[in-house]
Amino acid sequence: MNKLIVTGSNGLIGSEVVAYFDALGWQVFGVDNNMRREFFGEKGDTRWNQRRLEATCKHITYYELDIRDRAGVLALLDQVKPDMIVHAAAQPSHDLAATRPFDDFDVNAGGTLNMLEATHRIAPEAIFVHMSTNKVYGDRPNTIALAELDSRWDYSDPAYANGIDESFSIDQSKHSLFGVSKVAADVLVQEYGRYFGMRACCLRAGCLTGPHHSGVELHGFLSYLIRCNVEEREYTIYGYKGKQVRDNIHSYDVARCIELFYEHPQSGAVFNLGGGRANTVSILEAFERVEQLTGKPMHYHYDDQARVGDHICYISNLSHLRESLPGWDITKSLDDIFEEIVVSWRERLR
Ligand SMILES: NC(=O)c1ccc[n+]([C@@H]2O[C@H](COP(=O)([O-])OP(=O)(O)OC[C@H]3O[C@@H](n4cnc5c(N)ncnc54)[C@H](O)[C@@H]3O)[C@@H](O)[C@H]2O)c1
Repeated sequence: MNKLIVTGSNGLIGSEVVAYFDALGWQVFGVDNNMRREFFGEKGDTRWNQRRLEATCKHITYYELDIRDRAGVLALLDQVKPDMIVHAAAQPSHDLAATRPFDDFDVNAGGTLNMLEATHRIAPEAIFVHMSTNKVYGDRPNTIALAELDSRWDYSDPAYANGIDESFSIDQSKHSLFGVSKVAADVLVQEYGRYFGMRACCLRAGCLTGPHHSGVELHGFLSYLIRCNVEEREYTIYGYKGKQVRDNIHSYDVARCIELFYEHPQSGAVFNLGGGRANTVSILEAFERVEQLTGKPMHYHYDDQARVGDHICYISNLSHLRESLPGWDITKSLDDIFEEIVVSWRERLR
């Protein structure tokens, strides 16, 4: 039986990966200490998701381990000797990092180093998949020429018609401290691939989403927006007239990508991974979609101050991914994503 370690296994991506590989018959070892609750308070609590998986998965073992615990991580790798590691534990918020710089860096950069070095020492043949982010590009995407349309911004430079690819510079732009800790993790993963030959990759994600996100204002764009609508709570738009564009990918399509990377591994690979142009939505457009689904009006407040380093328009170019991982593509449309998240919040808030 193949063995998989998933860090951040109670979170959006971790939980999807646990369920996906459990269904494929892998033996799965989940690592999570519910630090999302510590970061975001009660609404960020991910225990409900852990309970859901423990009730539905056949081959899952949970470890209440902090990835900052270097000795604990080494002991876990030694005990499991995994065939693959999916590293999805993180402090995931751009904004929160400014007030918790040490926690942010220790979890995102230090935790990743712990996972990499333990893998290198104990299971060097294992496949290592790291969840990186488009925030490694800092606010440089905001330098691309834009056109203002009725409900969204879009690139007016034809070079970006299909989105931003992996050759885009990560240097000399404003990242937020979160972006910096994720750059550190991203280049560490590349280095363990290039220097040590480990079969490791970075998935630089756009907006990851799905019904199992514990969305809060500071992290989880669509999950939080839809929750506000379902609960009839006020949503705050920060700047850019609410026309800022995100590309959204369902966590299921991330899990499929990881399975294909396992089948076609490379050393030190970098992929932009998002919903692509077809799955883009602006905040104003998301309001309209969710209102149509629930029949409830969106209550919102506009704050002219944009979030520091927020992308005005971000679309992932998926060409490199599609070419490298034959058979991979988006299977969940924006309609599917909205419907699943609405259903999930209705059930969870009952
Ligand atoms: N959600 C997005 O839109 C998005 C976008 C780009 C990149 N990413 C990246 O993808 C990854 C997964 O994101 P997600 O949305 O699933 O996040 P999430 O917050 O839902 O899940 C992360 C999990 O990691 C756990 N965790 C945090 N610190 C830990 C620690 N020290 N030890 C053990 N567990 C810890 C949390 O409790 C949580 O359950 C992260 O690396 C994130 O930066 C997410």
